[in-house]
Amino acid sequence: MSHTMKHLLSLNDLTPEQILDLLDLADRLKADTKAKRSHPILAGKTLGMIFAKSSTRTRVSFEVGMVQLGGHALFLSSNDIQLGRGESIEDTAKVMSRFIDGIMIRTFAHQDVIDLARFGTIPIINGLTDLLHPCQVLADLQTIREHKGQLQGLKMAYLGDGNNMANSLLHGAAKVGMDIAVATPPGYTCDPESIREAEAAAVLSGSKVLITTDPLIAMQDADVVVTDTWVSMGQEAEKAVKVALFGDYQVNAQRMTLAKPDAIFLHCLPAYRGYEVTAEIIDGPQSVIFDEAENRLHAQKAVLVRLLAPDYQG
Ligand code: CP
Ligand code: NVA
Repeated sequence: MSHTMKHLLSLNDLTPEQILDLLDLADRLKADTKAKRSHPILAGKTLGMIFAKSSTRTRVSFEVGMVQLGGHALFLSSNDIQLGRGESIEDTAKVMSRFIDGIMIRTFAHQDVIDLARFGTIPIINGLTDLLHPCQVLADLQTIREHKGQLQGLKMAYLGDGNNMANSLLHGAAKVGMDIAVATPPGYTCDPESIREAEAAAVLSGSKVLITTDPLIAMQDADVVVTDTWVSMGQEAEKAVKVALFGDYQVNAQRMTLAKPDAIFLHCLPAYRGYEVTAEIIDGPQSVIFDEAENRLHAQKAVLVRLLAPDYQG
């Protein structure tokens, strides 16, 4: 088994085996947590958590995850550290590498995360950039497998904005052999490089990637239906334009009739009921959003163990 991950910047950097290893470990850590079995695998380790954007789930789940693994987490708002006053990513990476064992960062430019990894000597975890949200998609895959018993051969439909979630879902689904259909309004499709990467991964895993502007085709026979906010952090000024354009891409009861009757609904949260999804769906029986939120904790603990305790054999 290859446990040789150095960072988690993009799911595209991982092999299918590494992703499945993380999901298996996440399941074991979840079972241990439920059984109140503690594993201080990260005793003495400190994770720095740099946030340039807001967060509920990412902040709380990483901090709680470090505590449950016997380690410690530092919340570092980018406004309060010198990074926010113009200190370079390079110097920040080099300095933090002298103090702590890993960095989780949520920021705007994906290049900043790449540069932290390049200039530092410690593992870097992408806690969301404008381009990608890999930690969320690991939790999503764990949740789908829990509810469906498998990943390979399922079909995921994503309706809405071709944003960081859509890009990481493309990577995640294609790597593990799920078909994925992403429907966005014209002009709001996914990142072209992420599409190419997913298409390449799908060739290897035997799955299909469909990029379309037709929400009906995307939803057809889906096992898993996903959406996300139409207005991501940093895009607030675009809200009115997007709301006017995105109506056909709302996940609602009518759209859900196109998916399989036992389809499940996922949303990374925060959700805006009445926009990307109706309350009827997100609060209805097909929704697994709170299992999905919970699994951030378990999936990220698996990531933390593999990156900060690479010799751990469990
Ligand atoms: N899904 C997610 O990343 O949530 P937060 O923005 O609350 O961290
Ligand atoms: N696409 C959303 C995800 C929030 C967790 C955003 O970037 O704001």
